[in-house]
Amino acid sequence: MRELQNLLQCRKLLLEKIAIRPALALVLGSGLGAIAADFMEIEATVDYETLPGFVRSTVAGHRGRFLFGTISGVPAVVMQGRVHYYEGYSMQQVVAPIRVMGLLGASVLFLTNAAGGIDLNTGDLMLITDHISSFVPSPLIGENLEKLGGRFPDMTEVYDRGLRTVLSRTAEELTIPLREGVYVQVTGPNFETPAEIRLFKALGANAVGMSTVCEAIAARHMGMRVCGVSSITNEAAGLSPTPLSHKAVATAGENISKKLARLIQASAPQLMNG
Ligand code: HPA
Repeated sequence: MRELQNLLQCRKLLLEKIAIRPALALVLGSGLGAIAADFMEIEATVDYETLPGFVRSTVAGHRGRFLFGTISGVPAVVMQGRVHYYEGYSMQQVVAPIRVMGLLGASVLFLTNAAGGIDLNTGDLMLITDHISSFVPSPLIGENLEKLGGRFPDMTEVYDRGLRTVLSRTAEELTIPLREGVYVQVTGPNFETPAEIRLFKALGANAVGMSTVCEAIAARHMGMRVCGVSSITNEAAGLSPTPLSHKAVATAGENISKKLARLIQASAPQLMNG
């Protein structure tokens, strides 16, 4: 119950400190953190490490703080950087910021990440239609936090159909190509082998990454509506002659991020009605 107490304490502290009451929650992944200022009127920032039970992001390119403000008029909270399972934290620690955003009242969660393309190209944006969580532990293992949701949440439609429709339509209006596909989460921190990528392809995955799925599960547990977009920063292992590196992933993320910033800004109001 310590975990729930910490989450409720974070909620209390943030409600006291921050005037914004977020409706939309957004997570900015690797190489994407810098774009927040492009689409958001930032009113306040809170470093994760100042909150009870929160841990620091140790990854280069991940700032590790909440931004509070508005996106096209929609009150929003943004995670500028996330924490990952491979940093050595528990899945519960990894999803704590998501849960706090839900407890603050955000009803829609927009997830972004950098991902390796299995049958997508570097530079593509991929709307996540479904995920494979089978290679990482569930963030819901352990005592169920009944106050947040039930023991056995349904995962038939993690990525909300209505939100997906809004994102596809908005991308079309902006003439931003938006592919669709299934995202598989692995633990990292090592990249995959070519044999693993062939396995994931056979299982129906289109992109691979080290985040997002556990966050989507925690959000669905709480009843938040979820959508997600992957920025394809590289071809997955074995599909191109270039060895993979975090630096290349972060740099490619930055290049794709302008498109993503436009998509977020244009879609925010409709996501709240979609
Ligand atoms: N694999 C796993 N995670 C990633 C990749 C990848 O190829 N690219 C960006 N994040």
